[in-house]
Amino acid sequence: MLATFYAKALDADLPKPILGDRFAKEIVDRINYDWKKTAITAANSPSVTTRSAHFDNWARQFLTVNPAAVVVHLGCGLDARAFRLDPGPGVEWFDVDYPDVIRLREQLYPTRPHYRLIAASVTDPSWFTEIPRGRPLLMVGEGLTMYLTRDDGVALLRRVVDHAPSGELQFDAFNRLGIRSQWMNAVVRRAGATLHWGIEGPADIVDAVPGVRLLRWESPFDSASFARVAWYYRAMAAVMRPVPALRYMAQYHRYAF
Ligand SMILES: C[S@@+](CC[C@H](N)C(=O)[O-])C[C@H]1O[C@@H](n2cnc3c(N)ncnc32)[C@H](O)[C@@H]1O
Repeated sequence: MLATFYAKALDADLPKPILGDRFAKEIVDRINYDWKKTAITAANSPSVTTRSAHFDNWARQFLTVNPAAVVVHLGCGLDARAFRLDPGPGVEWFDVDYPDVIRLREQLYPTRPHYRLIAASVTDPSWFTEIPRGRPLLMVGEGLTMYLTRDDGVALLRRVVDHAPSGELQFDAFNRLGIRSQWMNAVVRRAGATLHWGIEGPADIVDAVPGVRLLRWESPFDSASFARVAWYYRAMAAVMRPVPALRYMAQYHRYAF
C-alpha cells in the first residue's frame, strides 16, 4: 500500500501526471518512512497510476448514472479515491482496510460528509451490516484480489452481489502466471507480501458468482489510461501483447449485477 501510494505522489510531480493526485503528494511528506524501500521510482510509477486512473474512470462512470449509490472501496490502503472523485451528497462511500491502515488514514485525511472508514478484513462478513441496503452498490477493489485466497475472494464477491438490488463489481486481478512469478515483482517482494488468487478470465468469476454479467474485461495495455505512458512502457506492451498469458498477466474486470 505504501508502494502504490508513493507512486501516486511521484506521479503528481511529473510534468505530465497520469493521475495527478495532490493528496498523495501532500501526505507522503508527512509520513516518516524511507520511501526508496518501496522500489517505486518516477519511471515505474505508471504501472500503478494507469491502474488508478482506469478505476477512477470506471467508478466515475458508475456514479454518473447512479448518483444515489453506495460505494465500498475495498483494500483502500492510503488511496484518496473518494477525495479525487469527490462524489455528490447522494453517494455514501465506505473505505475498508485492515485496522492498522485505517488508523493511519485517520491521522492523514480530513473527514468528509457521507464518507466512512471501516477497520476490518474485507473477508470478514460482519462489516456488511454497516452498509446500507436497497441502493445501487459499487464495489471497487484495486490491488486487492491477488492478496485473497480464491475461496475468500469468491465469498466476498457473492456477499456484495447478495447485499444490493443492483450494482457493479470493479477490480483488477493477476492470472496464474502473475501469481507464480510474484517473486519477480519487486514491489510485492519488498513488501514481504504473498499473492494467492490467480484469475484466468471472466469465466472464473461468472461461473463462481451467480447473478453477475460481464461488462468489460481488459488488459491494462488496452486501457485508455495506458495511452499516456512513456515509450518504454509502450515498447514493453508491444512485446507482451501477442502472448495471451503475458497480455493478461494483469487484468481489469467489470461486472454488473
Ligand atoms: C497493493 S495495496 C493497494 C491499495 C490501494 N487500493 C491502491 O491501489 O493504492 C493492497 C491493499 O489491500 C489491503 N488488503 C489486503 N488484504 C486485505 C483484507 N483481507 N482485508 C482488508 N484489506 C486488505 C492491504 O492492507 C492494502 O492496503
